[in-house]
Amino acid sequence: MQVTFSTAALPKTGAIIIPVFEDGKKAKAYQDINAKTDGALDRAIKAAGYKPKKGQFLEIVSPAGIGNGRVVLIGAGPTKDFSALDAEALGGRVIARLQASREKTAVFALDGLSAKKIDAGELAARIAHGARMRSYRFDKYRTTVEKDDEPALNKIAIHSSAARAKATFAPHEKIGDGVFLTRDLVSEPPNVLYPDSFAKRCQKLTELGIKVKVLGVPEMKKLGMGSLLGVGQGSEKPSRLVAMEWMGGKKGDAPVALVGKGVTFDTGGISLKPGPGMGDMKWDMGGAGAVTGAMAAIAGRKAKANVVGVIGLVENMPDGKAQRPGDVVKSMSGQTIEILNTDAEGRLVLADALWWTQETYKPETVIDLATLTGAILVALAHEFGGMFTKDDALAKKLITAGEASGDKLWRMPLTKNHDDMIKSDIADMQNIGGKGAGSSTAAAFLGRFIKDNVSWAHLDIAGMAWNEKDTPTIPKGGSGYGVRLLDEFVKANFEG
Ligand code: BES
Ligand code: MN
Ligand code: ZN
Repeated sequence: MQVTFSTAALPKTGAIIIPVFEDGKKAKAYQDINAKTDGALDRAIKAAGYKPKKGQFLEIVSPAGIGNGRVVLIGAGPTKDFSALDAEALGGRVIARLQASREKTAVFALDGLSAKKIDAGELAARIAHGARMRSYRFDKYRTTVEKDDEPALNKIAIHSSAARAKATFAPHEKIGDGVFLTRDLVSEPPNVLYPDSFAKRCQKLTELGIKVKVLGVPEMKKLGMGSLLGVGQGSEKPSRLVAMEWMGGKKGDAPVALVGKGVTFDTGGISLKPGPGMGDMKWDMGGAGAVTGAMAAIAGRKAKANVVGVIGLVENMPDGKAQRPGDVVKSMSGQTIEILNTDAEGRLVLADALWWTQETYKPETVIDLATLTGAILVALAHEFGGMFTKDDALAKKLITAGEASGDKLWRMPLTKNHDDMIKSDIADMQNIGGKGAGSSTAAAFLGRFIKDNVSWAHLDIAGMAWNEKDTPTIPKGGSGYGVRLLDEFVKANFEG
């Protein structure tokens, strides 16, 4: 969907969108159109008993006196607590509504509107961003979409005289590109997106100035990555490790490292998952998808920070060559792992990806993202990503970035006792805990691959990578969760 900014007169065709606060001044367009239509807006409000509560619509179709297909009033609630995220939700709700119409263009008439917490430029930029986020579709595999089922809407214009509306939108457009990339990756079917094809998509990011390195199986063998390679050994598709470097900050400054779980399909391996719902496991690369999208966002807006994204890409399949429950593997760190369940594979991939990242880049801060456990869904459903860290200062920064970006996090426990639960009888550790606290024992496992003095957080995003239903700015499907969080975390803590 194309987004433009304009200060010219309102167009005479298409839909006109006018946000309305419960208090405060009405947008200029409201008065203008009301006059041109002989009071049609006032009359419609009265007749419908319309109250502009957040998200409430009132639609006046084809009013006499103007050529526009419809005028859409959208409630914005009270001015005092209207936030940037509320503006995004407003933009998104309007797009969802108009996609069900035959309107091709929509203009948001924002002149004269003001909220308390955000200025007019931010208001305009965030409405535009939310609208664009909701317009996302993944249609590449449909060959027979009925013309009438396809939304006609392909252009929105933001009418605002706010000086900085367009400039404020610019970074959001890049962040949006990153979110769309993640949604694309997460939505792709697993016969199309597997470790090598995923790595090839990462290589496209060189266009943004990112340096991309891809490690193949022989190189990983040489490095001793027995933990990651053990997961991929039952698949016909060879494993990959991809590193994406964006060095936009000071030369010589240690980068922030973002590390992602990229299991392009998780059957569970020999500890095979039950059939129903197994198709969901195509998005078991959601952590890697988020890291890739975040790198695109960060490089796209030319962030003044050094950031490296590393993703471990494997397919977890049952096969004659697959690893068995009972196997012992040796990780790159030298630590040995007894595999008691081949379905607890994400941590095995991350163990080597995390170790390699620290050896290669010497980062001071490492954040990993993974669709790691079903248990995190039991605790947090689809409301929050689960955050595990021993570093209180880092926890605070991430929570703050979550609130600002809308990708919310909730801190979960990670203690010595969780670490005790993964002691093995015959190796340095086992890859599953006992009963209970499954997300925390998984985090404790990862913690064994973090070096002293590295500030590290693990984000379990199993409940967040995929939306089961539409939300205002995210259509059902791949959510792109994590991109905005990581971008905001980098922006707030590592730039300038
Ligand atoms: N990829 C799954 C976790 C998952 C579950 C992600 C549901 C998204 C939705 C992970 O590899 C897994 O299978 N975890 C097991 C671990 C168990 C065997 C210790 C789980 O959560 O059941
Ligand atoms: Mn699994
Ligand atoms: Zn998995």
